Amino acid sequence: MDSGMDYHSALALLAWQVELGATEAICDAPVDRYALAPAQPRAAARAAAVPAGAPAPLPEQAADPVAEAKAAAQAAGTLDELRAAITAYDHCELKKGARNTVFCDGVPGSRVMLIGEAPGRDEDREGRPFVGRAGQLLDRMLDAIGLSRAENVYITNVMPWRPPQNRDPKPEEMAMMTPFLQRHVELAQPEILVLMGNVSCAAVLGRRGITRLRGTWSEVWGKPVLPMFHPAYLLRQAGEKKKAWADLLDLNARLKEMR
Ligand code: URA
Repeated sequence: MDSGMDYHSALALLAWQVELGATEAICDAPVDRYALAPAQPRAAARAAAVPAGAPAPLPEQAADPVAEAKAAAQAAGTLDELRAAITAYDHCELKKGARNTVFCDGVPGSRVMLIGEAPGRDEDREGRPFVGRAGQLLDRMLDAIGLSRAENVYITNVMPWRPPQNRDPKPEEMAMMTPFLQRHVELAQPEILVLMGNVSCAAVLGRRGITRLRGTWSEVWGKPVLPMFHPAYLLRQAGEKKKAWADLLDLNARLKEMR
């Protein structure tokens, strides 16, 4: 069969499936599900079952994932309830491919709350944000100004589920999860938000362009916000670490000013 897929893409897809836990092939031959007759939509099936003369049923309301996310987020009155609301939220496709819902790490109520992008492979496995190589660098950066997730930092991500092959989250996926993020900030009550990289800038500031945004304070959701380079970027671009160091010193100075 010519699937139109090259060898490397097919291998990457297979590796992804193995990572998700697929351990065996069920059929001898692949099934092209696009070629199967489409299943009858549920609404049409119900309409067909209405007896003659009975009033027609109301049309099924299309779900509005963002409105549902806002309602579920607002209904959460504690961090535990918010975690449960996110875990129960079913509109984001990423959830289907993830092993864990990655909610937070560190100390709730800390003065500083860091917002990353999305779990990678290690975070998906462990269920905690920033535990891989980028997280280890982040810990060293925080330590340099006396911060640590064991004592005085709280950490989350824009997306609680790992995107396949670590692709960027799509705008519609971010739109669904941003109401939960905003509620997360309200419930964790930090004094300062630090945005790690472009995805968190897009979710919180509505803008990308971390090279220009980093190091410049603004205010969002009633809090001072500092964008910084993502530690994964610093692992690839070690020459940019001096800018991250300048931002850390600025963060430290702001914390002291706000005492
Ligand atoms: N990168 C992130 O933005 N968040 C994580 O949790 C891990 C890597």
